[in-house]
Amino acid sequence: MDIVVAGTGYVGLVTGACLAEVGHKVICVDVDEKKIGIMKKGISPIYEPGLSDLLEKNYANGNLDFTTDYEEAYRKADVVFIGVGTPERSDGSANLDYVFSVCGQIAKNITKDCLVVVKSTVPIGTNDRVEEFLRENVENNIQVEVASNPEFLAQGTAVKDTLYASRIVIGVESENAKNILMNIYKRFNQPIVVTNRRSAEMIKYASNDFLALKISFINEMANVCEIVGADIEDVAKGMSYDSRIGNKFLNAGIGYGGSCFPKDTKALHWLANDHGYEVKTIKATIEVNENQKYKLFRKAKEFFGSLKNKRVAILGLTFKPGTDDLREAPSIPNIRRMLDEGAKIIAYDPVGENNFKKIYPDEITYAESIEESIKDADMVFIFTEWEEVKNIDIDIFIKEMKTPIIFDGRNCFDLNDICEKSVYYYSIGRKTINNFIKKNLMKKNFFEGGN
Ligand code: UGA
Repeated sequence: MDIVVAGTGYVGLVTGACLAEVGHKVICVDVDEKKIGIMKKGISPIYEPGLSDLLEKNYANGNLDFTTDYEEAYRKADVVFIGVGTPERSDGSANLDYVFSVCGQIAKNITKDCLVVVKSTVPIGTNDRVEEFLRENVENNIQVEVASNPEFLAQGTAVKDTLYASRIVIGVESENAKNILMNIYKRFNQPIVVTNRRSAEMIKYASNDFLALKISFINEMANVCEIVGADIEDVAKGMSYDSRIGNKFLNAGIGYGGSCFPKDTKALHWLANDHGYEVKTIKATIEVNENQKYKLFRKAKEFFGSLKNKRVAILGLTFKPGTDDLREAPSIPNIRRMLDEGAKIIAYDPVGENNFKKIYPDEITYAESIEESIKDADMVFIFTEWEEVKNIDIDIFIKEMKTPIIFDGRNCFDLNDICEKSVYYYSIGRKTINNFIKKNLMKKNFFEGGN
């Protein structure tokens, strides 16, 4: 069976590599010649643990190939997986231009009956539209069917999430489509949920929006903890023993980012609104997240009055660890606000620097290490919980910084390790440690803006 995967982003490339890994013959199609060249060398164009190894191995053994020649690829295809992006439009709805552009190419080039599998996250009803479009546009009496097969991989663990998925969801309208996909996926040996296409599309949105809701909920609980003097980590731990609640996605912080939750919450909200229904829980999820994003910035403003001429160290730029992806990363708008205030930014991220330079080429300084970033800094902001950030010896802040004032948006440190240290440490939903301020309050007025 010839499988073609359209799109070599996170979803497309990981899907292609994992299908090849379990023994299928796969061709990944992309319009970008340079990218194809890189992948043929066994190098992943995206930072994703384990992916380069899969590309190298399966390109070498002939299971996986890459091409820009989509005409040739679709000509031979029995099954085409669509894994292209569905970015957010300015009104919050999903932009399906890439999906339909691929469909146009498929319709023009297929030469035999074909199953088109939509992996991209698409609004409910899109698979119906895709099938309609293909049937209107294919020639020569070729039979095309469409199936929905949403993706549940997370960035940073994408390969593992695919090879050992919690479930595979297949949305089909015929036995034939079901049999083809069951046949493809039986090698993964994972639970398979078979539904109709609309339910499969909805499972994807409901899953992502529920996880986003869980994060916004725990963030609001963290905010209440700060008010009432409780500790969100203890609260989350206490909740987690109830298996109905579970212990995942209860980490309070400065909100969710990435290419999925922000987009998928807005898209479902938009879609429901368009049908005259307001999903109040999703609306609240979005609002809470927007507010949470600037929590550290507001805290710093409260303390310093102004950030003008302050030297601000930033640890972590990406939206989460294990990826170089910056989409909807809280660091981006926060740094904008700091720069507008007149702060001097020295940022460090183990893998996100190159991408960040495309957004902020000159306005900020990039450090090669944590130590370089925090040296002589007036304050440090932690936006991403990279392992090397979590493993910092707290004394380094005291040794290197002008004033060891720490705003931690990812609760990287155990309060027991920090409570005796001479630092100011604000984290989310926990007690603020203010030993440094207490000690120095009388000596120096470091709260005033300017130098
Ligand atoms: C998310 C889902 O987890 C995947 O299941 C889904 O397939 C994917 O979207 C998608 O639709 O493609 P991803 O965006 O890669 O995956 O990252 P997550 O690990 O879910 O993290 C998203 C954001 O939530 C990050 O900014 C992270 O810091 C934040 N987060 C996560 C929290 O603030 N608290 C938590 O407890 C967990």
